Amino acid sequence: MRHHDTETGKNLESAFAGESMANRKYLFFAKIARELGNEEIANLFETTAHQETAHAFAHLELMYPKQELTVERLLEIAIEGELYETNHMYPEFEATARREGNLDAISEFREQAQESAEHAAIFQMAAKRFKALTGVEAHHAARYQKALDQVRSAH
Ligand SMILES: [Fe+2]
Ligand SMILES: [Fe+2]
Repeated sequence: MRHHDTETGKNLESAFAGESMANRKYLFFAKIARELGNEEIANLFETTAHQETAHAFAHLELMYPKQELTVERLLEIAIEGELYETNHMYPEFEATARREGNLDAISEFREQAQESAEHAAIFQMAAKRFKALTGVEAHHAARYQKALDQVRSAH
C-alpha cells in the first residue's frame, strides 16, 4: 500500500512536511538569533530543531515501512521526487513568479530546478551502477552454485 492512498496516509504526509519544515526553520532561526547575538535562544532553536527531526522520522517510518524498502526502491522514490520538482513544481512556480514580476523568485526557482535535475541524474547513475553491481553478483552466485553442484554430483 502506498502511503497516500488513505486519509491518514495524506495526514502523515502533511505532518511529515510540517515537522520537516519546523526543523529547517528552527535551524535557520538559530543562525539568525546567533547573528543577532543571542546564543541562548540560538541553542534553544537548535535543540528543538533536533526534536523536530525525530518527529519527522517517526512519520517517515509509518510512510515508508522498512520491510517494503530496497536500495533500488529508495533511489526510485528519490528520482521521482527530484523529477517532479524539475519538470512540474519549479516550472509552474517560475511561471507564477514571472506573472507576478518577482525577479528574485524567478531566478531561485530556475536555479533550484536545475539542481533538482542534477540530483535526479546523480540518483539515476547510482541506480544504474547498483543494478549493474547486483547483476554481477547474481552472475557470480549462479556460477558458484553451478560449480558447487558439479562438485556435489561428482561425489
Ligand atoms: Fe514536532
Ligand atoms: Fe534535490
